[in-house]
Amino acid sequence: MDRGCCNLRSSRGGPLRGTLTPPGDKSISHRALIFGSLAEGTTRIRHLLEGEDVLRTAAAFRAMGVSIESSAEGYTVQGVGLDGLHEPDDVLDLGNSGTGMRLLAGLLSSQPFLSVLTGDASLRSRPMARVIEPLSRMGARILARDRGRKAPLVIAGGELIPIDYLAPVASAQVKTALLLAGLNTAGETSVTEPIVTRDHTERLLAAFGATVEVTATDRGQKVTVDGWPTLRGIDLQVPGDFSAAAFPMVAALLVPESEVLLTDVGINPTRTGLLTLLRQMGADIEVVQEHRVGGEPVADLRVRHSHLRGVTVPAELVPLAIDEFPVFFTAAALARGETILTGASELRVKESDRIAAMADGLQRIGATVSELPDGIRIVGNPSGLNGNATVDSYTDHRIAMSLLVAGLVCREPVVVQRCDNIATSFPGFVAAMTGLGANLAS
Ligand code: S3P
Repeated sequence: MDRGCCNLRSSRGGPLRGTLTPPGDKSISHRALIFGSLAEGTTRIRHLLEGEDVLRTAAAFRAMGVSIESSAEGYTVQGVGLDGLHEPDDVLDLGNSGTGMRLLAGLLSSQPFLSVLTGDASLRSRPMARVIEPLSRMGARILARDRGRKAPLVIAGGELIPIDYLAPVASAQVKTALLLAGLNTAGETSVTEPIVTRDHTERLLAAFGATVEVTATDRGQKVTVDGWPTLRGIDLQVPGDFSAAAFPMVAALLVPESEVLLTDVGINPTRTGLLTLLRQMGADIEVVQEHRVGGEPVADLRVRHSHLRGVTVPAELVPLAIDEFPVFFTAAALARGETILTGASELRVKESDRIAAMADGLQRIGATVSELPDGIRIVGNPSGLNGNATVDSYTDHRIAMSLLVAGLVCREPVVVQRCDNIATSFPGFVAAMTGLGANLAS
């Protein structure tokens, strides 16, 4: 596919009204496919995210001999057990997905065969040393471009030794990569994270039957898995993705007279930093119908147009809102007063440099934004932004959607370039948003 050819136009219109069920959670969808493949027996997954990132993970496991089929009821994975994967006979292409590549790097380091992992231009520019370095300490043999730092990765898998790792970055991908390597390794593998990150791996591995221990230590939260568990296939329903819900959520807060109900949204507390921040800004978001789905808390969220004010983001919320900062910046650009984010240099190594990309886009539509080395400063303008600009998504799905949300409250239309990658996490985004009344068109 010709990446980056699709431009979308966003313009002001009436209030957003109605109900939207976001697609399945991306993080949980990857994990459901991976753990289902490693389990014994059948795993049935409903509401799997059919975004390109997750479909790449499914294709990788099919290439290693796992049967993964879809039907009207969902996806069925015939697990092959921890030692049942086959050597793929070609390179595994993870597309745009950092989660796919880092998680597979961990898992494949401990499998007795050779694998080669690559991805698109964005993924090939992202840091991989954060997984290669600790995996190498476990005995993994991984060759990588740029002196061991970037994909493609060549992994000569084999037997590993367990590790007790103190992670220097707060990253659920690093944590999960090491725990996946630990599954195939005799003994206990532990990761201590400086600040708590999303815990879907811990919850879902336990649901598949693994022993996962979580303890508080003076250096952070420590997660330990025992090697060689027997994982058993399960039936699970993937909650709606809070990270996808964030776009209609912020849109409804910004567009006057809007009221939107977002249904079946995952509200795992390790994911809802944006909800906390928006409420601190004065957002009217009601959490209704809270229940549990597959070991995860889920709720409906009623969102009403609100007058927002700027905030300073507390450090402990940074990992809990890491994927939502682009759309949070859009909210801040329309809020009264100043918003400051620091301690978020991770944003510079996502699918794009999200600090630079959002600063560029928001400035072009008339916002007052300055980049900080590890964050951003935004002086909001509640009376609205000019728009009347063409802005670049930098091929990043979340930048594209965040700037399209901004366009809904600009005086003149905004054209966002290279929006194809929206399909990596939110297929059907334009239809879902126009269904609420948003003016989005190609
Ligand atoms: C993810 C972890 C986060 C997040 C990504 C999904 C995961 O990345 O940004 O979209 O599923 O584990 P980091 O672990 O790099 O923070």
